[in-house]
Amino acid sequence: MLPAKNDFESNVHLHSHSNQLKTGGWGCRNTKRGNMYILITLILVLLHLLLLPVYLYLTWHHKYWRKRGLLTAKPLTLLGTYPGLLTRKRNLVQDVQSVYNKYKGKHRAVGVFVTRQPQILVLDPQLAHEVLVENFRCYRDSLTSSYMQHAKWDKYAKRNPFWAAGDTWRRLRTEAQAGLSANRLKQGYAIWEQSGKKLTNYMAQHVNMHNNILETRDLCFRYTADVMCDFIWGIDAGTLTSDEQGLPNMVQEMASKWTSYAFYMISIFMASIIAPFSRLLLRLRFYPKDTDEFFSKLTKESIELRLKTGYEVERIDYLSHLLRLREEKNATHDDLVGHALTVMLDGYDTTGSALMHALYYLSEYPAAQQKLRTEFLNNATKTKTLDFDKLCDLPYLEQVIYESLRLSSLIPQYTKVCTHPTNIQLNEFKRVEVEQGMTIMIPNYQFHHDPKYFPEPEAFKPERFDNAEHHNLVRQGILLPFSDGPRICMGMRLALLTLKSALFHIISNYQVVRSKKKIKTAGDSGFGVVLQGDINLEYRRFLQ
Ligand code: HEM
Repeated sequence: MLPAKNDFESNVHLHSHSNQLKTGGWGCRNTKRGNMYILITLILVLLHLLLLPVYLYLTWHHKYWRKRGLLTAKPLTLLGTYPGLLTRKRNLVQDVQSVYNKYKGKHRAVGVFVTRQPQILVLDPQLAHEVLVENFRCYRDSLTSSYMQHAKWDKYAKRNPFWAAGDTWRRLRTEAQAGLSANRLKQGYAIWEQSGKKLTNYMAQHVNMHNNILETRDLCFRYTADVMCDFIWGIDAGTLTSDEQGLPNMVQEMASKWTSYAFYMISIFMASIIAPFSRLLLRLRFYPKDTDEFFSKLTKESIELRLKTGYEVERIDYLSHLLRLREEKNATHDDLVGHALTVMLDGYDTTGSALMHALYYLSEYPAAQQKLRTEFLNNATKTKTLDFDKLCDLPYLEQVIYESLRLSSLIPQYTKVCTHPTNIQLNEFKRVEVEQGMTIMIPNYQFHHDPKYFPEPEAFKPERFDNAEHHNLVRQGILLPFSDGPRICMGMRLALLTLKSALFHIISNYQVVRSKKKIKTAGDSGFGVVLQGDINLEYRRFLQ
């Protein structure tokens, strides 16, 4: 009789077991190894079980756009469409460029994923105009304003319209921009005339010491710190008059610290979209605490000084506007500091950087520089001054500034939030619904560098904007250096005046010459693709 199957198997087991005993116990080692394999398998299974929810969390939405009929720019499984946000190997402009190049001209928009979060990338400037201007009602907030819900303790950031949403944004913007009207700037024009003189005096003192070479980034930031401090607080920041050569003073140091901190934090907020609750846990903020304290003290002391000297009636500047807000709207000390900081912090770095780029491009293009100088000389008085209205109306000067802003695109993209459900017409037959809360990015850097809209896009050609063409291009959503619509840059007039006045004073007195080496633009830590490092330019003074 054949043994039953189980008996047979147990025989084999017994047999092999006795063999193992005979051969000195390798079976024992085998069992150990077997156990190890089981353990490893268990660990791997466990790891997968732990990672599965993470994987599902990160990729859950990846079919979002396909389901809604919008073409998807294929995301990387874990990193989304813009991997540079997490890997930091490329900046956002470069990541957006790859997507833009692939789909532009064929589609009005594509669906992308910022890590796991669906977003719309606009590819058609006309759609950008729709979002910023025509359909603003449905895209009222900016992505940065949505961050404030996770940084409520940042008391001055939340008073800046840039970071504000909804009705708070409207109130803050109305309060703040009344102090920046064309009329007020005109009444305070002496500030710019005086800063222009300080700038040329500073240059005259320093060019000889350095073989006519001036590091232009430092020069421009000294100038914008001087103008902004005089306009906002009525004080001489000392950046153009101090004896301490080469050393940034306290105001400049604080403003620069704020800029690098705020930009870094914006990139951290973008990356933390993967786990927004972490922002609350880490109590993230945009304004560093010591700059808050510094500027609060500065505002308090400036108000005390103004009230003591009692010249708020004569001097029209931002401080006189703040004092009126205190009187008429019961604005608190924190409200006043918040408004003052909005102008200083949103205006100092942007305007300084814009001036530096303009001077660099003028040094690269001597014919444009000469044409600008001729415009100045033809319009200035015998005493080499220009009144406010004339300065604001010089056409070539404005073209130079817009062309420089186009090339540098200092704020390279705007991300808006859908605040009211709407839709986008993708083509004649198809449209996509946009849900409330959805974000939509306008890649103005890409528009500004697209040869379709700007032939030879990397060349500096202010003549592109002859006959005020830049205004037409803004209306078409193609040229957006200050954005457009109700959330257009609040300080645009202030920035233009500051740039125009500085260029008038520098270019009428100096020939700006580039060194032999061309300075290249490169992607910076988070946003722009701009001139990097020291910008050493030669300034040759004209004989009077
Ligand atoms: C050349 C210099 C400047 C450039 C290129 C510039 C550019 C811009 C751009 C593109 C925006 C829109 C950002 C977005 O929608 O995401 C903006 C907003 C803003 N800018 Fe400027 N800006 C400059 C100077 C200034 C100055 C001097 C101030 C001072 C008041 C200022 C205050 C603001 C504020 C408060 C906002 C937010 C507006 C809102 O959301 O309602 N900017 N700026």
